[in-house]
Amino acid sequence: MNEGFETLAIHAGQEADPHTGAVVPPIYAVSTYKQDGVGGLRSGYEYSRSANPTRTALEECLAAVEGGARGLAFASGLAAEDTLLRTVCAPGDHVLIPDDAYGGTFRLFAKVLERWGVSYDPVPLGDVDAVRAAVRPETKVIWVETPTNPLLGIADIAALASIAHDAGALLVVDNTFASPYLQQPVALGADVVVHSTTKYVGGHSDVVGGALVAASAELGERLAYHQNAMGAVAGPFDAWLTLRGLKTLAVRMDRHCDNAERVVELLASHPKVTQVLYPGLPEHPGHEVAAKQMRRFGGMVSFRVAGGEEAAVEVCNRAKLFTLGESLGGVESLIEHPGRMTHASAAGSPLEVPADLVRLSVGIETVGDLLADLSQALG
Ligand SMILES: Cc1ncc(COP(=O)(O)O)c(C=O)c1O
Repeated sequence: MNEGFETLAIHAGQEADPHTGAVVPPIYAVSTYKQDGVGGLRSGYEYSRSANPTRTALEECLAAVEGGARGLAFASGLAAEDTLLRTVCAPGDHVLIPDDAYGGTFRLFAKVLERWGVSYDPVPLGDVDAVRAAVRPETKVIWVETPTNPLLGIADIAALASIAHDAGALLVVDNTFASPYLQQPVALGADVVVHSTTKYVGGHSDVVGGALVAASAELGERLAYHQNAMGAVAGPFDAWLTLRGLKTLAVRMDRHCDNAERVVELLASHPKVTQVLYPGLPEHPGHEVAAKQMRRFGGMVSFRVAGGEEAAVEVCNRAKLFTLGESLGGVESLIEHPGRMTHASAAGSPLEVPADLVRLSVGIETVGDLLADLSQALG
């Protein structure tokens, strides 16, 4: 049966508990499982690093909503990224990353993986020819974020998938900003989807987590092997919270998008704003590609402030309903200064972000209250 997104989010991997009929998968706070004779595992469970029923429910649901063969849940988005990269890369391999990659992803390449012999080059992913030209014989992965954090750049997933596959490389898409409701990279040719489930998938700013969804069962099996071998798994309570969030992803995302569109309207006509970065704007260079591959344009909005860095920092400090804080994708609106906060680790690198940039994670509060707060913060 071809079920819809909302049905899958609420039911995939979540059959009623066979013993009690509980309609929500219980939190299996357990590390080990009784065996019926040596090697006689019940339903395959042996030790909770390898598998835990609460985590299995989340993993099956993630695979279903992304349209992949296998989902895996991790302790954080970066733990998922690290496990993926140490599964598919070896010393001597090369990776292309976005030239405005999330700061933590950049740091993972620059400060950790490079020391283990995995090299990387930042490329402008919006420029398909530049990506093709940057591919080397040792390139194993093209790493895509779309929309990017924090500049909301757009990459053409299908075009990049064909470049990666021609080169014998994998296409990995960090789908954190879009969420599986707005964009489904596997259907566009991605081999692996990455999430910081801390963000829209969890959706309530109450749990840190990460996920990988593999398009093929074979790659899923290799990743699962490394998930167990490396051990950065999601705990049962974290998996349960994340799954609870995932059930309402579709309705939350629609409201995030509605509110973001109103915020963009306000910013676009504000005299203190020099540029609004939002893929839903027709003048955004990635608008057409975004319209082709996304259901809507998301809840993240960035903008540049007249008056430079100090003025941008002031806007962040004056906001009240928009909470000054890192992270994104929760029901509450957040504001931040990427240059000094989330992207401080990219300072002095090719990934440095403009100093006058402010990033908003537009939440699902009453939109009039959000607009009033932004107006007073801009002064
Ligand atoms: C796009 C993106 N990918 C990955 C991560 C890392 O995820 P986590 O913070 O859950 O480790 C983040 C965190 O902000 C992110 O924004």
